[in-house]
Amino acid sequence: MAQLDAILEELGIAPLWVRRGAGHVHRPGDTQGDALPPARDVMSEAGIALPSQPLQATDVTVQACDTQESAAHAPPQASHTSVEAARSRVEATRAEDSATGPAGEVGKAFEGVEAAEGVKTTAASAPEAAADAQPVPMLDWAALKARVAGCTLCRLCERRTNTVFGVGDETADWMLVGEAPGENEDKQGEPFVGQAGKLLDNMLRALQLRRGDNVYIANVLKCRPPGNRNPEPDEVVRCEPYLKRQVALVKPSVIVALGRFAAQSLLKTDASIASLRGRVHEYEGVPVIVTYHPAYLLRSLRDKHKAWSDLCLARAIHRKRTVAH
Ligand code: URA
Repeated sequence: MAQLDAILEELGIAPLWVRRGAGHVHRPGDTQGDALPPARDVMSEAGIALPSQPLQATDVTVQACDTQESAAHAPPQASHTSVEAARSRVEATRAEDSATGPAGEVGKAFEGVEAAEGVKTTAASAPEAAADAQPVPMLDWAALKARVAGCTLCRLCERRTNTVFGVGDETADWMLVGEAPGENEDKQGEPFVGQAGKLLDNMLRALQLRRGDNVYIANVLKCRPPGNRNPEPDEVVRCEPYLKRQVALVKPSVIVALGRFAAQSLLKTDASIASLRGRVHEYEGVPVIVTYHPAYLLRSLRDKHKAWSDLCLARAIHRKRTVAH
């Protein structure tokens, strides 16, 4: 199938399709290569070991698919490492907070979270007021969308054109989480609509998925940081309740964290993306697989095959979870 070949080519993984023993390389037009092989086969081709036991967050180690990757994979971190990291970040935050005083940025950030999770104080009509009075963890989709659309909890609201809530199947098995809207997303109000989005769509197609169909896409931040700068910690803190609620409403069987920033924010860690890849993490009880951001892959073609391994791992987790339920 020419389209699939084009997708594999785009992902830079076409050369991986060598049939073991037969020395046969998948070429455009080969009928045998038209259907994607099962995840287990693909992963075994790529030298990735699949867990045979039910998933335990953070205890599944995946063998690297090449030596370069093995070197990049640190031994699995015990879950308490993340907790320690989160704890030290909180300590650092507290230290910063006391240094800046209650009116400091971090202090404001936590006020922001309280406001996001608690009661809004602005005047509203009776039905709106009822919705506004709900804490974020209680909101349904409509109320959550409205809350995000009107959010003014951080400075990013001042320069946004649109909030970028998220898009897709609200009961999807697959949830993809990126960093923050860029210029195009801010204009259109939809995540991943630029070049990186096209690559993301191709990555999904390689898994025989497409956005909106059993896939939900969201970002950690719902508003564009000006000039595409990195999100600030207080912005993440204020915005996270929205993502957390999206995850609770979608109830995905797997989350794919796209890029370092999304991974670090979801997993509350400062660990490098190389050390986070190839293992199963957890966010709010949902398995999380970490992979490269599509925008990074556009610049680093060499890493596309690693992203493919990550997606295969995510697919294996998804299969395991959907068969188990
Ligand atoms: N990068 C992201 O992380 N998210 C988008 O929506 C677009 C680009």
